[in-house]
Amino acid sequence: MPNVVLGVSGSVSAYRAADLARDLMRNGANVRVCLTDSAQRFVSPLLFETLTDNPCLSSVFEEPIPGRMAHLDWAREADLLIIAPATANTINRIANGIADDMLSTLALAYEGPALIAPATNPAMYLHPTVQQSLAILKARGYAVVDPIEGDVAAGEFGLGKLALNADILTDSLAILSRSQRLQGKKVLITSGPTQEPIDSVRFLSNSSSGKMGAALAQAALWMGAKVTVVTGPVDIEYPRNALVIPVRSATEMLEAARSACDGVDWIVGAAAVSDYRPENPADTKIRRSNEPIEVRLIPNPDIIAELAKTGAKTVGFAAEPSLDLSAAIAKMDRKGLHAIVHNDISNSAIGFRSNENRLTLIQKTGESVTSEQTSKLQCALWLWDQLTTEG
Ligand code: C5P
Repeated sequence: MPNVVLGVSGSVSAYRAADLARDLMRNGANVRVCLTDSAQRFVSPLLFETLTDNPCLSSVFEEPIPGRMAHLDWAREADLLIIAPATANTINRIANGIADDMLSTLALAYEGPALIAPATNPAMYLHPTVQQSLAILKARGYAVVDPIEGDVAAGEFGLGKLALNADILTDSLAILSRSQRLQGKKVLITSGPTQEPIDSVRFLSNSSSGKMGAALAQAALWMGAKVTVVTGPVDIEYPRNALVIPVRSATEMLEAARSACDGVDWIVGAAAVSDYRPENPADTKIRRSNEPIEVRLIPNPDIIAELAKTGAKTVGFAAEPSLDLSAAIAKMDRKGLHAIVHNDISNSAIGFRSNENRLTLIQKTGESVTSEQTSKLQCALWLWDQLTTEG
């Protein structure tokens, strides 16, 4: 039975959270409700406790079981965190990691997939701070169920009314079913650039950030997979629940990936591997002179082509300087891949180091489907969705 934590904040629509809790229970969820102080001015914990047959969390210093930090237990045990209705204040606090009440503390301790349904006054909803906070939450993988236009509090009409319960429910159930998609599966991801030494201080590399690999790892974890990431040198953090194996060169990456690919179901090559490496890197720093020097480059192993031979479903990335898919298709065939993801790096909004992406997934059959331009994490969720629903 999936565990859902339903966070309710102080909007006039707080009463609708009671029906939402019921609907979630009817669909098989165990629902635990956490109320902000303002929510309790509109609805009482007793309503939710009676409905859900679970204690509510509301005050930071009043735990249902003395001595146990219920908010940490709830955060660990939840398969989904829903915040509905989410006021402007709650949205801003959660986006900025402020943990000054039970709900915001729980949200900060929570590492799984989450959904937020704003309900605010129209001016507050459209305020740049709130819009920015929602963008931050989306980039972190929160599903946002947009508010609708309608009659809101204080006799006003506008955009800010809590979305229909049916829509919040549909999206919540979709996330819960998605979190089973890779249950029991092992996923191996190569990520980041490689560094190929020229001498003891210099190297050949590229500006891959590892952000797409990190997003693929996070999305796979949320879908229930056990995830290993073999990464070149990057400045970012990978999800702490992934096993991360840092490497430097392509040769090291191949070796590490090979030893990690036992029993793996999916392999995704998001690494930007250097195609060549200096044949004879110098042991010390090469000194300056006025003479030209030559660095002879030899080809690196094709890691993903090697890994594809293991029989795991292997997916490559093709960073291409245009929208033309033909080179990506040729790569998929040449490397023996299950599928390939085309990524147009000529567009700086979605290229190396950017926070957003737009992916085109090409299947072996030649069929292709393109995501919207969105955060790398949303792209990764989309990609795993596509990969795990195909025929
Ligand atoms: O051939 P190209 O480098 O464009 O192919 C890109 C795909 O192949 C990516 O998935 C990348 O991770 C993978 N690759 C690799 N080893 C290489 C070169 C590319 O795994 N030496």
